[in-house]
Parts: sequence; structure tokens; C-alpha cells
Amino acid sequence: MKILVLNGPNLSRLDLREKQHYGDLDYGKLQQFITNGASDLGITVDIKQSDSESELINWLHEAADSATPVIINPAAFTHYSYAIRDAVSMLKAPCIEVHLSNPLSREEFRHTSVVSGVVNGTIAGFGEQSYLLALRAMQNLLK
Ligand code: DQA
Repeated sequence: MKILVLNGPNLSRLDLREKQHYGDLDYGKLQQFITNGASDLGITVDIKQSDSESELINWLHEAADSATPVIINPAAFTHYSYAIRDAVSMLKAPCIEVHLSNPLSREEFRHTSVVSGVVNGTIAGFGEQSYLLALRAMQNLLK
């Protein structure tokens, strides 16, 4: 089983972001954590990050064409990108939205996700564990 893990803008610079939300995690550690967790579950992951909406949309189109399951942290695009939402809604395999922090406990503009309505489910607030929980949930969805 192969799962595409997409990470949106600014996640590559996690170690420079708000410590109260992202702790001491850096992007390298996050990638390693996801890769190790996936391998323990017998899952192959392809992890990609981009600050560009258009690049993320191209990857979503490719995932739609190949019916690849997707775990996506759209980062700030979560809150306003109808283009990401439309691309997610074209996916043929399941899609799970993840967040490291709990956007509902943060600023009001983070309380809206325009993506949540077109994914199978959302996991937020558990740091890097959110991705592991999403991998497990995806494994169940694909059974
Ligand atoms: C985030 C939450 C978003 O509100 C924020 O813009 C991010 C990261 C998270 O993983 O907690 O960049 O998606």
C-alpha cells in the first residue's frame, strides 16, 4: 500500500515556528517519524512538501489519476484555499486531513477548514502523532 503525504506551506520550517504549537519538531524529524511509523504498519509513504498552492494541486491531480490515498496537512491553505478543496474533492481514494496543532484552540481565522467537508476525516492536535493516527485510520479505510 502506498500513501501520499502532502504538507503545505511553512511546514518545512517547523523548528522556526511557534514553539507552543509545534514544540521542538523540525521537518526532518517529522519526515523520519512518518516514515518509521508507516514502515511499522507495513505502509510505503511518499512525503512531499510545498509552499506553492499550484504544486500541491498538481500532486493532488496525479493522486486522483492514480487513485492514490492521500494524507494532507494543507497548513494555512486549510483556511481559505477553495482550489485545494476542489482538487481534494476530485480524489478517488480516501483522503485524511491532519494538523499538528489543534486549529480550533487557536486564532479565530483557523477555526474554519474549507477542506474538512471533502475529506474522510480530520485528525488534529496530537503533534507528529496526528500523522500516525491518520496512517492507522487510512489502513482501516482501505481494508
Ligand atoms: C497547521 C495549522 C494551520 O492553522 C497552520 O497554518 C499551519 C499548520 C497544523 O499542522 O497545525 O501551518 O496545519
